[in-house]
Amino acid sequence: MHILYSILGLFAFVRYSIGLLEDVQASLSEQTSFDEYINKSLLWAPYRSNCYFGIRPRNVNKSPFILGLMWFDNSELNALNGIRHFVEQGDKLAKYGWEVYDPRIGGKQIFIDQHNNLNLTVYFTKNHEGDNWAIRVKGEPLDKTKKTTTSVVLYFNQNGEDGISKIVKTLDVDNSLQFEGFSKELGSYELSIRDNHGEYYADPNLPTMEVVSGCDSSRVAHVSLKVPDDNVWMAKDVFNSLLADSVRAIVQEKGTANISPSLNPSLFTIRNLYSFPAGNFHYVQKTFDLSKAGGFEFDVTYNKVNSKEKILSSQKITLLITEALQEVEARFNRHFQIQDEDKEMRVFALETLSNLLGGIGYFHGTQMVDRETTLDDGQYEKIDLANGHEEGPLSLFTSVPSRAFFPRGFYWDEGFHLLQIMEYDFDLAFVIMSSWFDLIEDSGWIPREVILGNEARSKVPEEFTVQNPNIANPPVLLLAFSEMLDKVIGKKENLAINFFGDNRADNFEETSQLENNEELLLVYAKKIYPKLLRHYEWFRDSQRGSIDEWEEVLEDEELSEDISKNEVYSWKGRTIDHCLPSGLDDYPRAQPPDISELDVDALAWVGVMTRSMRKIAHILNFEDDERRYANIESDIVKNLDLLHWSEDNSCYCDLIVNDYSEAREFVCHEGYISLLPFALKLIPLNSPHLPDLINLMGDPQKLLSDFGLLSLSRQDEFFGTKENYWRGPIWMNINYLCLDAIKHYYPEVTNDEIKQMDETSKKAKALYVKLRGNLISNVFRVWKEKGYCYEAYEQNTGDGKSAEHFTGWTALIVNIIGQK
Ligand SMILES: *[C@@H]1O[C@H](CO)[C@@H](O)[C@H](O)[C@H]1NC(C)=O
Ligand SMILES: *[C@@H]1O[C@H](CO)[C@@H](O)[C@H](O)[C@H]1NC(C)=O
Repeated sequence: MHILYSILGLFAFVRYSIGLLEDVQASLSEQTSFDEYINKSLLWAPYRSNCYFGIRPRNVNKSPFILGLMWFDNSELNALNGIRHFVEQGDKLAKYGWEVYDPRIGGKQIFIDQHNNLNLTVYFTKNHEGDNWAIRVKGEPLDKTKKTTTSVVLYFNQNGEDGISKIVKTLDVDNSLQFEGFSKELGSYELSIRDNHGEYYADPNLPTMEVVSGCDSSRVAHVSLKVPDDNVWMAKDVFNSLLADSVRAIVQEKGTANISPSLNPSLFTIRNLYSFPAGNFHYVQKTFDLSKAGGFEFDVTYNKVNSKEKILSSQKITLLITEALQEVEARFNRHFQIQDEDKEMRVFALETLSNLLGGIGYFHGTQMVDRETTLDDGQYEKIDLANGHEEGPLSLFTSVPSRAFFPRGFYWDEGFHLLQIMEYDFDLAFVIMSSWFDLIEDSGWIPREVILGNEARSKVPEEFTVQNPNIANPPVLLLAFSEMLDKVIGKKENLAINFFGDNRADNFEETSQLENNEELLLVYAKKIYPKLLRHYEWFRDSQRGSIDEWEEVLEDEELSEDISKNEVYSWKGRTIDHCLPSGLDDYPRAQPPDISELDVDALAWVGVMTRSMRKIAHILNFEDDERRYANIESDIVKNLDLLHWSEDNSCYCDLIVNDYSEAREFVCHEGYISLLPFALKLIPLNSPHLPDLINLMGDPQKLLSDFGLLSLSRQDEFFGTKENYWRGPIWMNINYLCLDAIKHYYPEVTNDEIKQMDETSKKAKALYVKLRGNLISNVFRVWKEKGYCYEAYEQNTGDGKSAEHFTGWTALIVNIIGQK
């Protein structure tokens, strides 16, 4: 017996090794070509998320070429009040954002700026190799009867070999400009700026538009100076102060009375007032007369000197733009099924996804970390992270919740973004996820908010810039990873069944190489695994609940034997009013905060992490690890029911030890937290609690509204109170999880044919159909009325609430629309 087993074992081992070797060799070349494709197709894009339009390359950290766009109407004396640069909700643009966009291909962004009477379109496109790109800027007035100008200011840094770039030619005839630059990482390149049409502002009744030497709105203005690369992001501030000084000097010299209002645009044209020597930094300003028919249009092209496919003519740009817009739409249509007759719905969905993708940025710089402050009862009043120090630099490739409000990486949001992005571009989602996992430090910690560099910090109140390695956040990234693994494993199984046709060839897309190639994914999974393991252990160690407080209670309730004392958790770093680490800031929790508190959502999230670790260990054939995770997962599922399920309230609740009775006390506030073990698909398929949870979600007196599931029950004493952030308003992220979970527990809900269903299935189906419909119709309605998606939706009216143009997790509506 023994010998036979050994021989078989040896056999298996030899076969396994050979197989592994072949896999690894195959994978190595595949991996290189995959990396190459990723690097090329994602090199250039408008990766400065916080700008209305700002370009920088990905993964280039030393003096990267950075370009930005600003605009204003300089025909008025208060011109500078209306200058646009960083995305600001306060600018009150009637509409802005990408209508069509994919970072690999390009797209079209629009800006409807009433204050500046401007309808602006910016196209971005690349050549097929991805090493060259072009932007086309096109403007027309919103109101043709108004006499306004549009002054467009482009700025960029150029670092020639000597640190200063060359201007090759300035043609006065057509206002074209051409520059040469050199980048250590990307080599020599040329940048050209060329008008297609448009009239510069001039008053024919004046002998000259030159209000002083150098300030002339009737021709392109170019000023070069030295600005350290670290300060390029402050281009608007530098521009404003140079311009303000210049205006002051002119007014002093001439007196206001002697300057014709027709010269305002010239007055507000930048000049080299202080005769700075030319440097690495450039402003190019063009002032178009918007009252002239046809508006204006100009192109900016970047061409690598040694490039196979250069973008040299405006016809070529037109062609590339047309191709890009068609290609993105075609990709969109391949991934999301929207009925042909729902034209406007398709426009909405494509735009919403485009804006999520349009928020993708590349960040590089230092971050602020306080490693000294520990969190204890003393911090319940206020978490004071007073020992912040600059660390880094680090890099992060990520999407953002909202370009206006949150242009930086958020650990909890990003998992939701990836759930959406992976349905459109699997590999892109994976690359973003890997970038996040690269941040895992030796201790296993990842910051809750990743705020890298001064540009990113400039958008955050100082007290919130500092991160602390005791504070966690829901690990939705691992939920996304788990879903990705399911897709790949599921695909493989489908292929095995469907052996007549080669699915892989049919479905093959350049953007889903990992999804269709398990071996390739394995190579990456193997690389990530050790770091993920550290992150997992860090999460469990740092957020573990205080079981000491519970020993006696568990004895009394005869739970000691059945529950796992290791698997109890509470969020570290909550205050009296807020539990920011949980992601659900003001959702009601135990009052007052108590050291014995156990949070059901913290436990559920550890369950998700454990499940993901189990899946990744499974595909990597790490059997011992897989067993270990399976045990922990089953302990967690048990604890959810034995500890956190309240029979009296029929839902999952937080816990504390009651000070007086010294017994277990449930802290129940029906809402998102009570649903989480279900929403995260942790409880068993045959759980006896499913009917209660379906009832809770389907109850219009409690959580069901015409706009989606409310975050907190209408019947809760805290419903709609105080900040009313997570106390009633409808949030897309949790609604998405709930919808997905209903489908998981009741797969029959999407099948129109099944007639025979039990009571709960019928209810689940009714709930699914209603909830899905309500979510879609409300977000769509608000978008039609306001032009934007919002951070959350108001509990009584369904109107948009909190941050505007929030195409982070609200963009999950695209999955809901596109997949039945
Ligand atoms: C892709 O880019 C990364 C980051 O810059 C680099 O380390 C890697 O070598 C590149 N891979 C290929 C195949 O070009
Ligand atoms: C802006 O211009 C485009 C064409 O360039 C046009 O289709 C669109 O309707 C305009 N938008 C507004 C609000 O005027």
